[in-house]
Amino acid sequence: MDELRRAGATAAAIAADHLASIADRPVWRPVPEAERGWLSGQELPETGRPLDDLLEDARAHVLPYPMGNGHPRFFGWVNSPPSPAGVLVEPLAAAFNPSCAGGDHAGPHLERAVVRWLADLVGFPHPPGGGLLTSGASMATIICLATARQRAALADGWDAREEGLAGRPPMIMYVTEEGHSCLHKAAQLLGLGARHVRTVPVDGAYRMDVGALRAMIAQDVAAGLRPFCVAGSAGTVNSGAIDPLGEIADVAAEHGLWFHVDGAYGALGVLADGAAPRYEGLDRADSLALDPHKWLGVPVGCGCALLRDPAAARAAFSLVPSYLIDDQAGDLGWFAEYGPEQTRPFRALKTWATMSHLGRSGITRLVNHTSGLARTLGDLVTRADDFELLAPVTTSITAFRYRPRSDGLDALNRAIPLAVQERGNAFLTGTRLGGRDALRACFLHPDTTEDDLTVLLDEIRLAAKSL
Ligand SMILES: Cc1ncc(COP(=O)(O)O)c(C=O)c1O
Repeated sequence: MDELRRAGATAAAIAADHLASIADRPVWRPVPEAERGWLSGQELPETGRPLDDLLEDARAHVLPYPMGNGHPRFFGWVNSPPSPAGVLVEPLAAAFNPSCAGGDHAGPHLERAVVRWLADLVGFPHPPGGGLLTSGASMATIICLATARQRAALADGWDAREEGLAGRPPMIMYVTEEGHSCLHKAAQLLGLGARHVRTVPVDGAYRMDVGALRAMIAQDVAAGLRPFCVAGSAGTVNSGAIDPLGEIADVAAEHGLWFHVDGAYGALGVLADGAAPRYEGLDRADSLALDPHKWLGVPVGCGCALLRDPAAARAAFSLVPSYLIDDQAGDLGWFAEYGPEQTRPFRALKTWATMSHLGRSGITRLVNHTSGLARTLGDLVTRADDFELLAPVTTSITAFRYRPRSDGLDALNRAIPLAVQERGNAFLTGTRLGGRDALRACFLHPDTTEDDLTVLLDEIRLAAKSL
């Protein structure tokens, strides 16, 4: 253990140096060919190597080539910097190394607390046992939709787990084209069939057209199909749009549909000043996916599935073999009964540390700061002659495009993200929005400043010149 103690101090110093110097280094740079070869081509050593050597390799070959998301001018996808408190306790979680499948040890008890905190923060109802931490929102979505599928089957007098789906009317799910791909992946994985996921049109602000939703449900019912779930977004990845959740909740209630909300990125946006009315109806959902590893900055990976009726999730997943029976488990049983994972990592520690370190006020400050940056970028873009705002700014994402001329804008905007990334001074990613190639910047970093926004726009101009 002396070797671990000594090397551990070095590792802590390396981590602190890395975080302290991030802003002075390129946001991102391509991994040179030789380094790629070193990273991917090495052989398993025949004899073990000392811990210090491993740290030296990590310092020389790993840390110089980050994805970029620790940098205050990283605006790509939805990837936050790591919270300092999360970084601090990750080695403790590894040293402790429990499986949080269940049982009477610190991990599962702490997980109960952080799941309750997450639900309370965003105003989602939280009965005891109403949620669990996951690898991310993709897994949370699988849990929520599997629960919805089994509830629909049981309501119709059959059991999807026992029988499979063959011979039953197709179950239909509704989601807009702005809905995240994880909703489609989950539907496919659960055997629903991609063709049974309906694409509901959106309005000019990329929010679900609820009139169209109603019409599609009526058509599917008339065709003898089984509408079972509508998935709304509380913060789409393209533009940060929030669907009209209250209206969707009405439709779901009228038709007995499961109402799922993808709040993986945006649910925390409800904390921003004046934002609450846009989230009206979130508390009426049956399930909510909310990722601590996005806006909160909990080190990857940590998602969360929140469920209004924990018993429904247990009915969809519980399978306790004789070697796992725990007579001490209490009414809620084990976390492993609420999802597909058996051995579960100690995700609660880094989530607890991050949330405790920030406190409710710190989390609210972070959400306000980053949402404000997105609005400010929206204003800068609107005022500039050579940029165009493509969607209202409602969370911490700004969707826009570069428009220095009137033709060839799709090709230009498609090429800009990589050209900006390669310059190393900022990082943004692109998308397609309303049939056009677009740029989007997502703000999650507490240290991003308004000056960084000006740098971003100038970087786009300079990068475009080189194309
Ligand atoms: C809105 C939204 N939903 C779902 C997901 C999927 O989450 P994860 O990557 O944690 O599985 C993402 C990921 O960026 C997202 O932004």
